[in-house]
Amino acid sequence: MIRTPLALVPYLIAVAAVVGGLLWHAGDAAIESNRSAGIADVGGPFTLTDQNGKARSDSEFRGRYLIVYFGYTDCPDVCPTTLGVIADAMEKLGPARARFAPLFISVDPERDTPGVLKSYLKSFGPDLVGLTGTVAQIRAIAQEYRVYFTKHPLPNGGYSVDHSSVIYLMDPNGKFVTYYDDASIGPDALAKDLRERL
Ligand code: NI
Repeated sequence: MIRTPLALVPYLIAVAAVVGGLLWHAGDAAIESNRSAGIADVGGPFTLTDQNGKARSDSEFRGRYLIVYFGYTDCPDVCPTTLGVIADAMEKLGPARARFAPLFISVDPERDTPGVLKSYLKSFGPDLVGLTGTVAQIRAIAQEYRVYFTKHPLPNGGYSVDHSSVIYLMDPNGKFVTYYDDASIGPDALAKDLRERL
């Protein structure tokens, strides 16, 4: 008979958390090695709905670099900070900003309707295109971009969404170029790096 002493339970939970963390980091490492090789298979086609309720697909952005960030409007800090960095970088690019299309793709499509996205994005300049869709559509595009997200229940009955926070840069043909680790790059360095891609 196999018994798991109760005293072991916290230990087992800790092990599960560590293994989960390692897998998560293994995923990051895979992206890192792909970036080095310059052959990352990140991204793919999509048709989603923008903040004006209009259908938008990846093909209409050909000819412009895509700056792709996944998040959600109810995010307390990481998303607004990152969107602020992207918006500031666009501003710093001056006329060259027209060569870039920054996309904010919701990982909370049930709450992030086009109207919610529209009022939220007003704080982040004129460039950002907010995208939402059905849960199935969002799962598909998140998978293409290797973005992880999961609902995290809150004591008040609501939820937050844990999610990857990576800024992807795709070239004018929709191919992966590089990524930035969320907002830590800052607007000046981001604008400088984007300009050098042109
Ligand atoms: Ni967030």
